[in-house]
Amino acid sequence: MKATISSALRSLGLLHISDRIFYLYQRSKNKKNNTEFELANPEVKLPPDYMMFESYGLNYSKYYNEGKKTAQWILDIVKPYIKFENKKILDWGCGPARVVRHMPTLLGNTNQVFGTDYNPKTIQWCSQFIKSVEFSKNELDPPTVYEDETFDMIYGISIFTHLSEEKNIAWYEELIRVANVGAVLFLTTQGDAYLEKMTEKEKEIYNKGEIVERGKVVEGHRVYSTFHPPVYMRNLFEKHAKVLKHIPGVKKEWGIEQDIWVLKKEF
Ligand SMILES: C[S@@+](CC[C@H](N)C(=O)[O-])C[C@H]1O[C@@H](n2cnc3c(N)ncnc32)[C@H](O)[C@@H]1O
Repeated sequence: MKATISSALRSLGLLHISDRIFYLYQRSKNKKNNTEFELANPEVKLPPDYMMFESYGLNYSKYYNEGKKTAQWILDIVKPYIKFENKKILDWGCGPARVVRHMPTLLGNTNQVFGTDYNPKTIQWCSQFIKSVEFSKNELDPPTVYEDETFDMIYGISIFTHLSEEKNIAWYEELIRVANVGAVLFLTTQGDAYLEKMTEKEKEIYNKGEIVERGKVVEGHRVYSTFHPPVYMRNLFEKHAKVLKHIPGVKKEWGIEQDIWVLKKEF
């Protein structure tokens, strides 16, 4: 039912408007908790409300505390495959630094941490307030500003999920270009657990092993949504990398987890 309504709003070109209304609702719903968080944590630099909402949600405590937990969770998953000493780490699609702002502290100072995003306001905010990370801006299409074979680890949390099939492919090639041979990549996609959110027509496409694009809105924005059959992504990833881990997402009480892919660049 929800999928059908959002599909109708998408077709009518009304999804950005309904998302804006949702933002205003979230702002008022979280107002009390957010004010309490600010008063209790005056040292924490917080991005402007819409910037935070656009990339994650509008709960300051979750932005900061869940961001920290997510950073640690990523490091725990990749720990068997990389020793963090004198390494360069990239957060692709870093948004307003929810995760990457915690990485320098968690990784220690022999490592260098970088973040890139296509949203100029976000990168401006990050560069101004998060000094322990080096930020740069990319366009919606590749490339990034980085030289070939720069990074030892690259992660991208919920970025493929907002890009078309064509850009999924182009960005995977770009991430491979800037990764060292042997580098670890940690990427998330919307896999089988999202079937319940799809319309019958979308399920048909997905079950044929094809990427489902929910377009008709600005690509890269949170309301642009893409679903990725694992068989398709494995084929794509194995063009340059070994799949070290694929952890399919499952339904939780808070929502649906994305699939996690841990890759090692081979060539
Ligand atoms: C759902 S948010 C996730 C942000 C961040 N990774 C996190 O976990 O908090 C998606 C992010 O992808 C960024 N994005 C979308 N298309 C992009 C592209 N082509 N290149 C870089 N970033 C992109 C958006 O600006 C946004 O910050």
